[in-house]
Amino acid sequence: MYTSKITGLGYYVPENVVTNDDLSKLMDTNDAWIQERTGIKERRHIKKGDGNSTSVMAVKASTIALERAKLKPTDIDMIVFATLSPDMYFPGGGVEVQEMMGMRTIPALDVRNQCSGFVYALSVADQFVKTGMHKNILVIGSENHSGGLDMTTRGRNVSVIFGDGAGAAVVSRNETGKGGILSTHLHSEGQHKNELSLQGPSTSHWVPEIIAENPQENIPYYPVMNGQFVFKHAIVRFAEVIQEGLEANNLKVEDIDMLIPHQANLRISQFIQHKLKLTDDQVFNNIQKYGNTTAASIPIALTEAWEEGKIKEGDLVVLAAFGSGFTWGSAIIRW
Ligand code: ACO
Repeated sequence: MYTSKITGLGYYVPENVVTNDDLSKLMDTNDAWIQERTGIKERRHIKKGDGNSTSVMAVKASTIALERAKLKPTDIDMIVFATLSPDMYFPGGGVEVQEMMGMRTIPALDVRNQCSGFVYALSVADQFVKTGMHKNILVIGSENHSGGLDMTTRGRNVSVIFGDGAGAAVVSRNETGKGGILSTHLHSEGQHKNELSLQGPSTSHWVPEIIAENPQENIPYYPVMNGQFVFKHAIVRFAEVIQEGLEANNLKVEDIDMLIPHQANLRISQFIQHKLKLTDDQVFNNIQKYGNTTAASIPIALTEAWEEGKIKEGDLVVLAAFGSGFTWGSAIIRW
């Protein structure tokens, strides 16, 4: 059995900065409310005409990750692409990246696990490398939220939280014999699927029905979120799945050098930090600058932490995510 290792990281966010004050011109909200409840100061939104899309941002992040891994697009054996906001309903974004990057006719797998998407995608890549089936896998999380949010007061509890961006990691066969991805742990609980969801258009609420109903109050094509319910479950599941990963490797919370939580909400990250008694140096947050970028949040944060020299060889890095589904997961990595 082989082991896998992250050999290259990259991220891309659109240039267009949207502050809390900018949002307060569109809806009844304010900087103090958003910062107090979520920690977010600003986020990036794709600007019409700037050429970005979920797949385009994915390619920009992936190009950097490949350069750092010292690999060419033709060296990649498989793409695993996590997003809840693909450019098209189908096909998914994986094939778009394959085409734009001029990769061979390699498999392109799309992962639909929302905030946990990157951890799920990483786990899939890890399994393919471990078995020896593939040597280099491109794992991507990318989201274009801004075009699909309800930018009126009706949608304010959701729309102020989310931002656009992409992150990518190259997962390669670990030739060094040292470190690598130690284990991944994935879960789901579909009974809570409606608490954080976007229900139309879908095959249960198809476009003609939406047009015929023309609903003004309960519009199913914007995301909805039961914020307090999500918060209560997130803080339990985050802590559980981190502990599960540590125990599987006979490690303790004190062994963590860097926890990269999915950037759901700064209050959730702080709650977990407090619960696990982690110091500020052991947890990385950048939601203040980018908002919640769902499947992209972990690879963006991981890349930034690495670029800032906060992750060094030999460090124990823990990734953990919770989100819509509900789904949650963790990855335990020796860097
Ligand atoms: N600006 C101003 N007021 C707002 C806004 C806003 N953007 N959004 C909601 N409000 C108002 C509500 O209308 C309500 O007003 P009312 O008391 O007059 O009815 C009041 O603020 C309180 O609303 P709540 O929804 O109860 O606010 P809460 O304190 O729960 O905070 C929040 C909302 C931040 C979403 C919180 O529930 C939370 O942190 N939830 C966790 C979920 C989360 O972070 N999800 C992130 C995405 S999911 C993921 O990644 C896992």
